[in-house]
Amino acid sequence: EKSGYEHFMFKEIFEQPQSIKNCMQCRLDTERALVTFDELEDYKTEIINARRIIIVSCGTSWHAGLIGEYFIEKYGELSVEVEYASEFRYRSPIINRGDIVLAISQSGETADTLAATELAKAEGALVLCICNVVGASIPRASHATMYTNAGIEIGVASTKAFSSQVTVLALLSLYIGQIKEKIQPQTAAGLLTELSKLPSVIRKTLQCADTMQFIATELHNFYNCLFLGRGVAFPVALEGALKLKEISYIHAEGYPAAEMKHGPIALIDDKMPVIFIAANNDSYEKIINNIQEVKARKGMVIAIVAEDDTEIKKMADFIVEVPQVNDLMMPIISTIPLQLLAYYSALLRNCDVDQPRNLAKSVTVE
Ligand code: F6R
Repeated sequence: EKSGYEHFMFKEIFEQPQSIKNCMQCRLDTERALVTFDELEDYKTEIINARRIIIVSCGTSWHAGLIGEYFIEKYGELSVEVEYASEFRYRSPIINRGDIVLAISQSGETADTLAATELAKAEGALVLCICNVVGASIPRASHATMYTNAGIEIGVASTKAFSSQVTVLALLSLYIGQIKEKIQPQTAAGLLTELSKLPSVIRKTLQCADTMQFIATELHNFYNCLFLGRGVAFPVALEGALKLKEISYIHAEGYPAAEMKHGPIALIDDKMPVIFIAANNDSYEKIINNIQEVKARKGMVIAIVAEDDTEIKKMADFIVEVPQVNDLMMPIISTIPLQLLAYYSALLRNCDVDQPRNLAKSVTVE
């Protein structure tokens, strides 16, 4: 049911305040400043003693995993590896005592992710998963499942499922930090109070839709596009590029901004727009240098910045302001404008937004 919306993708983008709320409910207890995962109760000791988490997934779910790596290493003080499920399953992956394998899948049916899950279980790992579809194959093959509760996602391009995966990973990182007693109660209280505002902050962020529609009128004429970000904004760059290429068929690549000078800078001219994800402040000066490098080569710069930004605003051709948030929320808040940019660019190119060519919602064959 599109409930009056023209496309499922658009409807699902705008459902994100509610889907995130559903995802956090029962898990986020701001009064006691606690994160709870009832589904992990039986595995608490194994999680406390874990030496490493190996995340396996594909596509957009793999991007969520990369974001989770930043969260879990920082707040859970636990080492994380993120693997494409298809590569993991055909290597001879080494699974040691104390390794946890975490599968991430919206559908719970992706063939490679399912095979990686089964392999990890056969090797004796504790296998957890993050999934949106209750009772799907990957949850059935796992020891425990954290459901995203985003509601059914119909648009082929994943939007609300992605943001709820990232939300589960943010909560999981704090949960691990708490059960390992690595996070000061006061720090946790502050972070959880902030996180509880996520639905309303997303609602505010969605107001950038008109700006994104306007930017799309420029962008949709280009054949190529680069997305750059540093730190946790790097996987956001990958996700922005994937959304754009899969529904508008504009060739797009995501890179860590620091990698630009190791190759991609050779591509930059007035036909190569560059989208900077620069809403995180920890590497502000460095991002400014990267923007100068692009401007010097006549590249068009579109920048996603926090609302208190002062410097980037003076340099970029197009600015998208998003609310100032902490690092656990920034990836979701920065992805929303990129979802809308892909959507409007695809519309202007007369593409079938909900059913892009050659793609299926659930990839049950290799
Ligand atoms: C992109 C997209 C795909 C999926 C991928 C994995 O928008 O939807 O890249 O993320 O096929 O699917 P799941 O998460 O169902 O395992």
